[in-house]
Amino acid sequence: MAKKLIIINGPNLNLLGKREPEVYGSLTFNEFFAQMEAKYTDASLTHFQSNIEGELIDKIQEVGFDHDGIILNAAAYTHTSVGIGDAVKAITTPVVEVHISNTYAREEFRHHSYIAPNAKGVILGFGLKSYELAIQSFL
Ligand code: DQA
Repeated sequence: MAKKLIIINGPNLNLLGKREPEVYGSLTFNEFFAQMEAKYTDASLTHFQSNIEGELIDKIQEVGFDHDGIILNAAAYTHTSVGIGDAVKAITTPVVEVHISNTYAREEFRHHSYIAPNAKGVILGFGLKSYELAIQSFL
């Protein structure tokens, strides 16, 4: 059976392609996602983005007991949200935390993650390829 995987993106990631392209690249997320769908036809891939913390928590709860994997880039909420960290702890679906940039090479406030302690693994710093490596980790 096809693995059910979802990519959940947090705040400002809807601006990929036009947001700080020197940090985040010039591809839009939809362009990248289409490439992943074409390449990983043996997986059932979906994605969700919200700028709202509670909507991200709702989505994690909704998919967190029946999906095979969650690829989570909580963006800035990674560094601030006890609620998202608790949601990741509450569910049974394994979560791989992903970041496009190497957060450890950036400002100190990006060095802490509320998600990592309850994640299956963390992949960061490889640009959009970080998401692809996370997909591969579930296949
Ligand atoms: C990010 C890193 C975060 O620190 C930042 O707030 C983001 C994107 C990344 O993918 O590199 O919005 O999660």
